[in-house]
Amino acid sequence: MKPYVFITRKMPDHLLSELYEVAEVKMWEHEDIPVPFDVLQEELERANGLFSLVSDPIHSEHLESAPHLKVIANMAVGYDNIDVQLATKKGIMVCHTPDVLTDTTADLTFALLLATARRIPEAARYISNDEWKQWSPYLLAGMDIHHKTIGIVGMGRIGEAVAKRAKGFDMNILYYNRSRKEEAEQQLGATYCSFVELLQQSDYVVCLAPLTSETKELFDEQAFQEMKNSAIFINASRGGLVKESALQEALEKGIIHGAGLDVFAEEPIRANHPLVQLPNVVAIPHIGSATVETRDAMVKMTVQNIIRVLKGERPLAAVNLKELGV
Ligand code: DGY
Repeated sequence: MKPYVFITRKMPDHLLSELYEVAEVKMWEHEDIPVPFDVLQEELERANGLFSLVSDPIHSEHLESAPHLKVIANMAVGYDNIDVQLATKKGIMVCHTPDVLTDTTADLTFALLLATARRIPEAARYISNDEWKQWSPYLLAGMDIHHKTIGIVGMGRIGEAVAKRAKGFDMNILYYNRSRKEEAEQQLGATYCSFVELLQQSDYVVCLAPLTSETKELFDEQAFQEMKNSAIFINASRGGLVKESALQEALEKGIIHGAGLDVFAEEPIRANHPLVQLPNVVAIPHIGSATVETRDAMVKMTVQNIIRVLKGERPLAAVNLKELGV
C-alpha cells in the first residue's frame, strides 16, 4: 500500500508527478482558502506525509492526533508555524525549503527598502489619482539609499544576500546576528555590532531574523526609541518579531521616519489595519519569495523532502535531523 500524503493547498499538478508515483496524494482543492482546522485534523489521522504552508499552524492538537505521520514538509524556509519540539518528540521529520528562495527574497527585501525610501507606491498613486499638475522641486522627495548605513538583523543566507545588494549601492553595512559571519565581513565589508549599536547607527534597519521565543517582539518600544528619527524600518521576516503597537506609535510620533512591511503579526491583515492606515508605511502581503520560478522550486523541494523521508532517505533540508539522530 502506498503512503498517504496530504497537501494543504492546491498546487500545480505538473510539479507533483513524482509524488503521485510513490504516494496516494490528496490536496485541499483551494488556492486561496486555507484548510480548515477540523479537515486538517481529520487528514492527519491517516497521513504519513504532510505538505504544509507558512499559513498552516501545525500545533499540538494536530500532532497529538497524527499517529502515522513521518514527515511535515513546509513550503517555506521559516517553520515557526510548526511545533518542532513536539514533532521531534513524536519522531516526525520537519523539512523546509532554504536556499532556493534566498535571492528572490533578498530582491524583494531590497525592493521594499527602495520603495519605502523613494515613496514609489505613493508616487504611483499620485498619478493614478490624477494629482500631478506640475513638476515641483520637492514633489515626493524621498531619502537617499546610496552611501547610507544599512543594519541587518539576522545575517543568515537572506541577510547576506541583502548585504550583497547593499554593497552594490555603496552602503555602509552593519549586522547583528547570534554568531559572527567572518566571511561576510571580509567579502561584503559588513561590520558586526551589538543590537543597540545597529539600531542607533543605521539609516535602514532590516529585520531578517527568524521568529523564535528569543526574537519574539524584539522590536519593541525601546528598540524603536534607539533608532534615528530618520530611520526606515523594513521587515521581511516574520511579523512576530515586532510589537506592532510600538511600531505604530513610533511611526505616528516621528520616533522613526517610515516602515516597509512584508509581514504582520496576524496574517492576512485588512485595509483598516492601523499600520496600513499610516502614510509613512509601505505594506505588502508576505510576498518575499513570490516569483513563479522560486515558488516552483519551493514546491519541487517540498515534494523531494517528502519522497525522501517516506523512502527512508535523508531529506534535502530538515530542521530536526540531528535531534532525530539522522
Ligand atoms: C518563508 O519561506 O519562510 C517565507 O516567509 C514564505 O514565503
